[in-house]
Amino acid sequence: MTATFEPESCVLRYCRPGFEGECGEELASEAAASGIAGALLPDAGFVAFRSAGAPARAALDRIADWRNSIFARQCLPVFAVLEALPRADRLTPIMAALGARGERFFDAWVEAPETDEGKALAAFCRSFGNALIGGLKKTRLLDPTAPRRLHAFFPKSDNVYLASVDPRTSAPWPQGIPRLKFPREAPSRSTLKLEEALLVLLDENERERWLKPGMSAVDLGAAPGGWTWQLVRRSLRVTAVDNGPMDAALMQSGIVVHAREDGFRFRPKKPVDWMVCDMVEQPRRIAELVARWFADGWCRHCIFNLKLPMKKRYAETMLCLDLIEGKLASAGREVELRAKQLYHDREEITVFCRLRK
Ligand SMILES: C[S@@+](CC[C@H](N)C(=O)[O-])C[C@H]1O[C@@H](n2cnc3c(N)ncnc32)[C@H](O)[C@@H]1O
Repeated sequence: MTATFEPESCVLRYCRPGFEGECGEELASEAAASGIAGALLPDAGFVAFRSAGAPARAALDRIADWRNSIFARQCLPVFAVLEALPRADRLTPIMAALGARGERFFDAWVEAPETDEGKALAAFCRSFGNALIGGLKKTRLLDPTAPRRLHAFFPKSDNVYLASVDPRTSAPWPQGIPRLKFPREAPSRSTLKLEEALLVLLDENERERWLKPGMSAVDLGAAPGGWTWQLVRRSLRVTAVDNGPMDAALMQSGIVVHAREDGFRFRPKKPVDWMVCDMVEQPRRIAELVARWFADGWCRHCIFNLKLPMKKRYAETMLCLDLIEGKLASAGREVELRAKQLYHDREEITVFCRLRK
């Protein structure tokens, strides 16, 4: 069966398996806020939303924008769903749908969810990717100057969603997963969380402007030092706050001071450029702490983790973000918050916060 959507009235969001509920709640709440009625179809490793009618283009663009979402690794505006594809030749019906649409693409990605079923499709996705690129070339639908990328997403080997994606509003990694290499000298695997946060939550220009050599930072819950290592790598001077031991080699950098103190009581002697926080604590306590640091002017930028409870994870996330905004608004400060569940996050999300004024 083939279903095509004109204009695109179906949106897919990929997410961490196990977080389909949160991803769906977020998508439903954004659709409602944009005035789009429709049905939510949570699956495994992704969520689909089909609007009831033909919604306004701008409203659909908003819910298909990866940058606006906390729980989506990728967002796709879908233009066709093909089901019961023949195993012997999946390409012909897909090329027929693409030919009927007539849109040119600068690239094509073939993807599957990050579930066990999806992982079993990895080899197929690689080889089918080559076949699809070949098909696009043959029909002159591959064009390096075209503005959009084609995504062919296979939840199962005989079903595919086709989407036309604007690279400016989507994640720039297949499956929405940045594959980072663990740096061997880093003291812990947690280092990848901060590396990914800096990559996903800031753009290149912001990384250059806001992370300059010689800047100062405080790392709350720093031991053994994976996050501090990322800051030291960028030549920031770091106060690492933790009662636990810091990695000896990292301390030899000469730009780290270890403060064996409680992260909730620690106060910097002077305001710092950055505060980062990876303490395992109730999310509301962390949100209160972050609000305090900004209200009292102790830092200008912050990246922190909110470890989510098992139940009501979406509600807790929104409550914590609202708490920070609310407290700072009453202190006369306006902050910008950007939150994502990163690939390297498990039962948690990562948030960037900065003072606007
Ligand atoms: C997940 S680990 C941090 C890992 C670290 N970000 C890294 O990359 O190596 C959490 C740390 O928070 C510390 N911690 C928990 N509660 C704390 C508190 N109240 N004050 C200071 N450190 C705390 C723990 O000692 C632990 O080392």
